[in-house]
Amino acid sequence: MSVPSPSLPPGSRQSSWVQTARLMHDAEGFLAKNVARYGDPFSSAIRDGTVVFTGRPDLVREVFAAPTDVISPYAPTHIASVLGPHALILLTGSAHKHERAMVMPLFHSAHLSTYTRAMVEVTRHHASQLPAGDFNSLDLCQRIALDVVLRVIFGFTDPRRHQQALALTLDFVGAIHPLSIFFDAMTKHLPTVGRLARWPKASATLAAFLGAEISRRRQPDHVPGHTVLDLLMGIRHDDGSVLSDDDICDQLRTFLVTGHETTAGGMAWALDAVHRDAAIGDRLHDELAGITSSDDVEGLEAMGRLPFLGAVCDEALRLHPVIPYVPKRVAAPFSLDGRELPIGTGIFVASALAHMNEAVFPEPWRFRPERFLERKPTAFEYFPFGGGAKRCLAAGFAVHEMRIVLGTLLTHHHFQARGKPLYAVHHGISRGPARRGPLTNLPTTT
Ligand code: HEM
Repeated sequence: MSVPSPSLPPGSRQSSWVQTARLMHDAEGFLAKNVARYGDPFSSAIRDGTVVFTGRPDLVREVFAAPTDVISPYAPTHIASVLGPHALILLTGSAHKHERAMVMPLFHSAHLSTYTRAMVEVTRHHASQLPAGDFNSLDLCQRIALDVVLRVIFGFTDPRRHQQALALTLDFVGAIHPLSIFFDAMTKHLPTVGRLARWPKASATLAAFLGAEISRRRQPDHVPGHTVLDLLMGIRHDDGSVLSDDDICDQLRTFLVTGHETTAGGMAWALDAVHRDAAIGDRLHDELAGITSSDDVEGLEAMGRLPFLGAVCDEALRLHPVIPYVPKRVAAPFSLDGRELPIGTGIFVASALAHMNEAVFPEPWRFRPERFLERKPTAFEYFPFGGGAKRCLAAGFAVHEMRIVLGTLLTHHHFQARGKPLYAVHHGISRGPARRGPLTNLPTTT
């Protein structure tokens, strides 16, 4: 019996430069047009190879079910040039399972309530610093999300170290070029102008800070806390050896970057949406009014469980997935939709396609949180956090944070949407709302 030779689904013959530019400029439009023309899955030539895109639930299920050494991370050398070669997001096989299992307990649902009060305090602090008048919702959400995640990663007791980490991370993330997934961007192919010119310094300064923090915690008088860094430093390989400093630095960079830009984008979309639809805003306020009389732990925990508030956050991540396609690559023989794909082909599992499926999400372009109360989509119809063995390990934490931050802002502050709705652009590693200032801060009622 003859073995079928590897082949690709149909797709555009346009140059890879044109297709990459279209994908970067308007990911949602690029995906929708290609599916309308070639079907799902379709192939596309992008800058550094051929990629198959799919958002079909049956195919998404197959990709997510594959082991990480068959379907592995895309563009490992490019991501390594940003986060480092040992970054968890790049690991596969047993090394991935082992390191992931060590930090997972921090993000376990049973542990989430320990972060709630800090999330509320951080939110109130940053919101209280807003000037009266217009402000940029993404900037506000980014500062809140970074401030929160720094507590989980480092748990600094010295506020100066905390502030330093905050400033250095913002510099580092601000210098990441969104094209870095398609080019070995930080080093080689792009001219070093604009944010790329800032990259070497931002990267070196953050690395020095992380190195110093690791050395400090290797001192005998350091008492390990329940933080990502302390858990990483406690990891032992089978032979008893510990992670090297470089290894730990790569993981810290991964958590710093993945741990705030994404959540910030999701929160900024949600914040914008609820201020543009009075009915949604009113329903949320009514729901929050039931619990906001108390500022105690129980009241705060109840906020994290409010159904409509949860549905608003889910709908924001549906309509605006901050990672619109999860980039993977075929590393060992793998068939998709009856075709064996050539080894090395990219597979981009596109939530931006799946979340627009009219059969699953009627009127997909409408921001309609109720849909999540009416029917819970499957993990292959709705997957803002990816899926399978590499699914975002902090998904529960991120959703909890979005609810608590949004609930706190709506309870204690009075904003108004202004101007045109936000539109999506690529930031460092995610796609989020453009940095414009369409929210207005009005005098507070409390
Ligand atoms: C709304 C917020 C977030 C979204 C939408 C999001 C989304 C994602 C996605 C799509 C992936 C790739 C999954 C895959 O390959 O299938 C991922 C991986 C990851 N995320 Fe998140 N994320 C969010 C928040 C966070 C936070 C708060 C943290 C840490 C504090 C975090 C840490 C990670 C890590 C470490 C990985 C790599 C997991 C692995 O390779 O095993 N993320 N995330």
